[in-house]
Amino acid sequence: VTHVSVGLLGLGTVGSGVVRMIEGNREELQHRVGCPVFIEKILVQDVDKERLVSINHEWLTQHPEDVIQNPNIQVVIEVMGGIELAREYITLALQNKKHVITANKDLMALYGAELLQVAHENECDLFYEASVAGGIPIIRSLVDGLASDKITKMMGIVNGTTNYILTKMDKQQRNYEEVLKEAQDLGYAEADPTSDVEGIDAARKMAILSTLGFSMHIHLDDVTVSGISKVTQEDLEYARQFGYTLKLIGNAKKDNGKVEISVEPTLLPDSHPLASVHNEYNAVYVYGESVGETMFFGPGAGQLPTATSVVSDLVAVVKNMRLGVNGKSVVSPQFDKQLKQPNE
Ligand code: NAP
Ligand code: HSE
Repeated sequence: VTHVSVGLLGLGTVGSGVVRMIEGNREELQHRVGCPVFIEKILVQDVDKERLVSINHEWLTQHPEDVIQNPNIQVVIEVMGGIELAREYITLALQNKKHVITANKDLMALYGAELLQVAHENECDLFYEASVAGGIPIIRSLVDGLASDKITKMMGIVNGTTNYILTKMDKQQRNYEEVLKEAQDLGYAEADPTSDVEGIDAARKMAILSTLGFSMHIHLDDVTVSGISKVTQEDLEYARQFGYTLKLIGNAKKDNGKVEISVEPTLLPDSHPLASVHNEYNAVYVYGESVGETMFFGPGAGQLPTATSVVSDLVAVVKNMRLGVNGKSVVSPQFDKQLKQPNE
């Protein structure tokens, strides 16, 4: 491998961070992977739009085939979002023998097993660290660092937008609409923030974490969900008076093969470690029978934290290319068809 050429699908909040990191950390990346990494093409909807990062205009295209069928591109980074088009483009990219990195939890929660199978059949990597908890390397920790243990419980704040909203409503007594708009302007929210505020984004992330942590096929329908759109200033004030903090908490338990997964606004005593996780920060508590209690904490949304996970996946892909082991890495576990369905 003398060099690696990358194509991006999308140049919004996360895509801009990825470009900034590939361009700005060029020397470090080359040092880590042993060869230079270049950007070849970027798919966008509007080539004339002002961008959050300085770019070479020749990179931009409105034609997906310029990325997914480009013979010069070895790695495709999907940061455009959405489900059906992203599924189609990723499938085609893998069939064209391109390794794929995605930040798309909507897609991975619904079609992760299918896409990982396509990746496996084509001897390609499909990595998705940025799909859960932004800059926190939680997926690697579950499938690699804690791989030896039996995980029975996970609990966490896995949506940055809602944690930002609840923090600002609680600490600054600001109104819901105003702080939601601020979270959107800061690039934390999804294109349609309904999935954030109704808890669906967190449910998708809990489904991905539970699939990996519990080694089971967990479907989004297995997660009980309620969001924060009806939380009022009075609710927060009431909680405060009694020494509690309201957080949107994802909870996943496995007991005797039976799993229960939920996402819901939850009152935590102020002394609870998750009660002091503020703004766009996320935290995931993982309990393993052997390791005991572990906690992962960091920024859960935003341009550069999310790009950190994406570009770290890129480093992993290129290392695999150099070793000739793409499609076989432990970071991309194949979903074993023998694994149990929840509660069967
Ligand atoms: P975004 O700012 O809305 O950017 C989306 C980009 O994709 C834009 O550049 C847009 O092009 C392009 N795009 C969208 N649909 C397209 C289409 N049909 N054809 C061509 N280009 C298309 O989104 P984002 O916040 O970066 O999020 C991207 C992905 O990362 C999503 O899956 C999201 O869930 C995930 N994610 C986001 C964060 C975060 O903090 N924002 C964190 C973790 C994961 P134009 O610019 O020309 O409109
Ligand atoms: N909208 C998501 C959030 C982005 O706020 O957590 C990170 O996945």
